[in-house]
Amino acid sequence: ADYTGALRPQIHYSPPRGFMNDPNGMFVDAEGVYHLYYQYNPTDTVAGNQHWGHATSRNLYTWENQPIAIYPGAEGEAIFSGSSVIDVNNTSGFFPNQTNGVVAFYTLNTAEEQTQDVAYSTDGGYTFTKYVNNPVISINSTQFRDPKVIWYPLTQQWVMVVAYAQEFTIGFFTSPNLTTWTHASNFSRHGLLGLQYECPNLLQMPMLSNVSIENPLGESNVASSDMFILYISINPGAPLGGSIGEYFPGTFNGTHFSPVDQAARIADFGKDNYAAQFFYGIPATSPQISIAWASNWQYTQVVPTGQLEGFRSAMSLPRYNALANTTRGDYTLVSLPYDLSPLYSSTSSLANSSALANSSLLYDYSSTAPSGAVTFNMSITSIPLANVTGTANFTFMSSVTGESIRGGFFLGGDTPFWIDRGYIRGFENPFFTDKFSTNSLIDTDTQTFRLQVVIDRSILEVFLENGLRSATTTFFAEGMLDTLVISTRELNPGVQVSAEVFGLNSAWT
Ligand code: FRU
Repeated sequence: ADYTGALRPQIHYSPPRGFMNDPNGMFVDAEGVYHLYYQYNPTDTVAGNQHWGHATSRNLYTWENQPIAIYPGAEGEAIFSGSSVIDVNNTSGFFPNQTNGVVAFYTLNTAEEQTQDVAYSTDGGYTFTKYVNNPVISINSTQFRDPKVIWYPLTQQWVMVVAYAQEFTIGFFTSPNLTTWTHASNFSRHGLLGLQYECPNLLQMPMLSNVSIENPLGESNVASSDMFILYISINPGAPLGGSIGEYFPGTFNGTHFSPVDQAARIADFGKDNYAAQFFYGIPATSPQISIAWASNWQYTQVVPTGQLEGFRSAMSLPRYNALANTTRGDYTLVSLPYDLSPLYSSTSSLANSSALANSSLLYDYSSTAPSGAVTFNMSITSIPLANVTGTANFTFMSSVTGESIRGGFFLGGDTPFWIDRGYIRGFENPFFTDKFSTNSLIDTDTQTFRLQVVIDRSILEVFLENGLRSATTTFFAEGMLDTLVISTRELNPGVQVSAEVFGLNSAWT
């Protein structure tokens, strides 16, 4: 496949051609190979004709495209979203002679019904056989989909969450053997409802002891906990329009989920992060790894990558996740990029605080990062932080067309942070919202505002305050962005600013 196009992400997963939406079936095997399946239309650049596409990786950035894993059968069938598990102990009976059997759960979509179906793989997840007694759950509904299965050790049972989409309900089912499922409870009408609940995830989450330190997801700072999250995607009807993810921290006893409170916690303050899924097979004591679809149903089928480069949609960065309690809210999902260091091609020397305070620095990365993929970190420190004023902005621009995508802090008070993709010209659409914002969480321990940005040709992801806030934003420029400008203005005396930039190698060459 050709991954050289000017809009083609170089460190994010995108399909070789055709249309992709939700990540599906994600698991890591005993050899450390991550398997990503995805909603895939191999024959057109719009949604429809859903298969499960497949790719594998050892580092979550360098992907190898694999043959399509699950095909629709009869005319009019589609293989909708779902999940997979490794049935090490052969609870299903599909795997008499092996410990690496994979069982996939998907929604079979037809005009008459959505049912939950099973397929199993004896070759580690490359090829699948549909279970002869499908469906495994059928309730005579056309709006019942997206099964996600986990193992719950305390009851020695499998647990499935699945969406009764238009009833704003997540159903919990249990099973001893992956094919016989018993309804256990419902979680209904919590948080933002939008017009449908889709793609639920249930998982145990570790907690961070201190979210303010340099590497908060480092091993010594991550403690196992009894907390779970229920993560729900809603579409359409998100606050900014279209698709969004929200999550509920709470406890789970094997049959019932109890949220800690009634708050709606939004996972990402951009508009291009939907249907996130968490990998099966990551120990509950470690940061959990997720990937989301970096798009939005409001405009995904008309973005210019389709006409120009023959594919639509990419996945978000793989993210590490854990929960943290903060002064502004308990059980906040902390998300940071999975280890990017294998891709580093260069380091710059922007880390000079005296040069960065109240000035602008321009960094042309056209030669150090010809991939167009760059990550940079910035931190702003002042004692006490509460007194800081001024602005700290970044601009990625094209030296050829003058287009740019920008963001920054208004320091002081609630310290709003904004992103603006409105100076990019390659895609005009009324739903392609220009501006996004959030408030920062003042980090009273380290007296620091932190920002990490990853840009990759047509995707920008920002992580604030060590991942307490994050946003995924696509953009479709006419010219390749090649220059980063960092500028700070009207900072009060004593404010320290530091920044580092790393060029990233393409993972597709
Ligand atoms: C979410 C979704 C799922 C469904 C799939 C179909 O984006 O609508 O609910 O299974 O996409 O492609």
